[in-house]
Amino acid sequence: MKKDLLNIYDLELKDFEKIWRGAAKLKKSLKEGKTHASLKGKTLGMIFDKSSTRTRISFEVGMYQLGGIALFLTSRDTQIGRGEPISDSARMMSRYLNGIMIRTFSQKSVEEFASFATIPVINGLTDLSHPCQILSDLFTIKEKRGSYDKLKIAYIGDGNNVANSWIEAAARLPIRLSLACPEGYDPDQKIMAKGKKESKEGISLYRDPFEAAKNADVLYTDVWVSMGQESEDKKRKKIFKNYQINKQLLKAASRNVMVMHCLPAHRGEEISAEVIDGPHSVVIDQAENRLHVQKAILEILL
Ligand code: CP
Ligand code: NVA
Repeated sequence: MKKDLLNIYDLELKDFEKIWRGAAKLKKSLKEGKTHASLKGKTLGMIFDKSSTRTRISFEVGMYQLGGIALFLTSRDTQIGRGEPISDSARMMSRYLNGIMIRTFSQKSVEEFASFATIPVINGLTDLSHPCQILSDLFTIKEKRGSYDKLKIAYIGDGNNVANSWIEAAARLPIRLSLACPEGYDPDQKIMAKGKKESKEGISLYRDPFEAAKNADVLYTDVWVSMGQESEDKKRKKIFKNYQINKQLLKAASRNVMVMHCLPAHRGEEISAEVIDGPHSVVIDQAENRLHVQKAILEILL
């Protein structure tokens, strides 16, 4: 595997397999109550420029369970927030730590950080992508369905960071991806163009959520207003109102469709309460798997 995990394209097929094997093994041994201190004495710095519940807890607990420690670093409380250059921060932190996880706005900052750091850098979400989320989600699908091969994933809503990482996954793996986004809220153009070119099973973009959801094995959504877009809240809620995963949309999908959401969710907006809390939803298992999959990634990279 490469030094860093900055987007899904950093992974080759054998890396995915290695992550799935590691995650399954780590999940099993944790459930059996076994100690697995493979990262004893190792340290992970976690830089957060945006809020987080799952990413923070799963990385922090994951490092602890592997015998290491994680440091929660917000830019507000470190010199990064006062303008210390990324080049200095990355080179200096590389002398203290064994790895860095970054959640921030610009993908370029994470890339710049990684280019100066001599230790592995993991993208914990940027405006452009959220690779750790999609890796956990693929693991969840594999766990529930045995394989993701040839499955149809329908992503409904905003063409945001989560959608972009789904496109990258569909370019690398044999999944069929259809997306439904309102005009003006499409996924990143470059990512879409590359994804379409490289995908084996196909990536399609629709305006009509029912078209995208047709016979889908997985219905996936994310918030309409991502972190950093709070000022667009009102406008977005109007534009996205027909892009909700609800009972009607479920009817278009396959009968045993799995409903997924990276969380946090807004019931009554991108997903109805009865669907997210209903029998098709796997959102809590999905959140749990962040822990196991990221532990596998940490084991490999650190
Ligand atoms: N899904 C996800 O990344 O959740 P957090 O924002 O709580 O980390
Ligand atoms: N698209 C969301 C994902 C949150 C996990 C955001 O960026 O806020």
